[in-house]
Amino acid sequence: MLQNPASKYRAFPPVRLADRTWPDAVITHAPVWCSVDLRDGNQALIEPMDIPRKMRMFETLVDIGFKEIEVGFPSASQVEFDFMRKLIEENRIPDDVTVQVLTQAREPLIRRTFEALAGVPRAIVHLYNATAPVMRRVVLGMSEDEIVELARSNAQLFKDIAADYPDTDWTFQYSPEMYSDTELAFSKRVIDAVTAVWQPTPEKKCIINLPTTVEHSTPNLFADMVEWTHRHVERRDSIVLSVHPHNDRGTGTATAELALMAGADRLEGCLFGNGERTGNLDVVNVALNMYTQGVNPGLDFSRIDEIRATVEHCNQLPVHPRHPYVGELVYTSFSGSHQDAIKKAFAARQEGDVWDMPYLPIDPKDLGRSYEAVIRVNSQSGKGGIAYLLESEYGLQLPRRLQIEFSQAVQREMDASGKELTAQDLWKLFQAEYRLDATRRPQYRLSGESGTVAISGEFQVHGETRSLNGEGTGPIDAFVGALSEATGRSIRVLNYAEHAVSAGANAQAAAYVELRIDDEHVVYGVGMDANIVSASISAIVSGLERAPRAKEASIA
Ligand code: KIV
Ligand code: ZN
Repeated sequence: MLQNPASKYRAFPPVRLADRTWPDAVITHAPVWCSVDLRDGNQALIEPMDIPRKMRMFETLVDIGFKEIEVGFPSASQVEFDFMRKLIEENRIPDDVTVQVLTQAREPLIRRTFEALAGVPRAIVHLYNATAPVMRRVVLGMSEDEIVELARSNAQLFKDIAADYPDTDWTFQYSPEMYSDTELAFSKRVIDAVTAVWQPTPEKKCIINLPTTVEHSTPNLFADMVEWTHRHVERRDSIVLSVHPHNDRGTGTATAELALMAGADRLEGCLFGNGERTGNLDVVNVALNMYTQGVNPGLDFSRIDEIRATVEHCNQLPVHPRHPYVGELVYTSFSGSHQDAIKKAFAARQEGDVWDMPYLPIDPKDLGRSYEAVIRVNSQSGKGGIAYLLESEYGLQLPRRLQIEFSQAVQREMDASGKELTAQDLWKLFQAEYRLDATRRPQYRLSGESGTVAISGEFQVHGETRSLNGEGTGPIDAFVGALSEATGRSIRVLNYAEHAVSAGANAQAAAYVELRIDDEHVVYGVGMDANIVSASISAIVSGLERAPRAKEASIA
């Protein structure tokens, strides 16, 4: 790279618009959306869509709710032409959808485009020619006047040819290609020349589309350009002002949003931002940004994973796992502090509350995603995520200090393997750590009266079956007494918790005991059983077995 990039690259010139109004604007309603997946998106594919893929994409776009769909560039290839014909001849265009097609400003291409549209009930025909200085100078070798005349004469040709098809409801669209790189005064001159020919009215508008063919500036400068154009073009009340952002600087979404604030009425883009180079505007991103601000975008992404699968199939390109709103990982937190916060916020949330969830800007359920993947455990995670997974998948409500204790065992496992642990992995580790073994159910009898309980039975401790007898104020007290005596160890119950198990773990009750053993070790024990007394007894054995054994006497 250069030490002095200014020797090769120039800064984008600011727009002189001291009285700009867009910074205070708020987006309160959805724009007119136009999908260009089947045209701009398709042109950018390694392998452009065949007709079945195009049809699948078209139907998906219709299902999502797009009312304007640029279906192709019929003069560019036979497939594009044939697809347009198929849509018309097989009557596949719903009554509330308008198809759009693109053509360069060249007579044979324009004629062929109208031919492709013969018989369509309504259509947007989109004319473009390059207007930027570099194109005028280097590529086309045309003066400003010649460019204006090119646009004007082809706009006239549109009008003339359209008159030959009076049964179609035509809308005309014009794009000064590379608007983002064209002097504002010159793009206004070309736009005004085109609308002077088309003579749109407030009742029958034309569309003027402003592409950031290549993104060159920060989005605020583009917003200034749009506001300038919005305020200066002639016949503004008869124009639908559209923008068509690309994403070369990675700011396509911001560009589109600020352009709406600056006066644009319509957005062109692709699902998940497919398109030339770094892509077209990601319309899903903008639509769902609006949704999270309480604005109905008028597009339905409630089955976003299905839409992603279709788009991946049609485009034969993957969507990145971290792609906003749709990526596989975008509703997942690995960080322990994030997990803690999410867990607490879910617990505090009441049905009908405004969505106010740390680290989750949108409710994944609104897009057909589940909460399952919200919390995943890797070496960055803490007790919150572990507890959440064990509760959501296995119905365990671990006491807080047990969460801390178990998270250390998880951390050791992570450090050894370096891998993410699934809920199932955690459950296996939990079973091993707390010796949850359904085959060693305690066999015992309880008896007693007036505040005294006697227990006698067979219990497995440290792999040996022992007969124990004891008395106490309740079954736990009686068992602790019997076990202490048999093992010669001091066992004190510091805390006890139990609950019915609602899911997954194959037992009806869970008991957790925090024990102080030999006045030295504080450990948790866990027991699970259909019977709560058996679960408690197993929890005490589990705790004892987990305590370091240095001072343990052999069982008599
Ligand atoms: O990016 C662009 O400039 C285009 C035009 C043809 C609208 O796709
Ligand atoms: Zn484009």
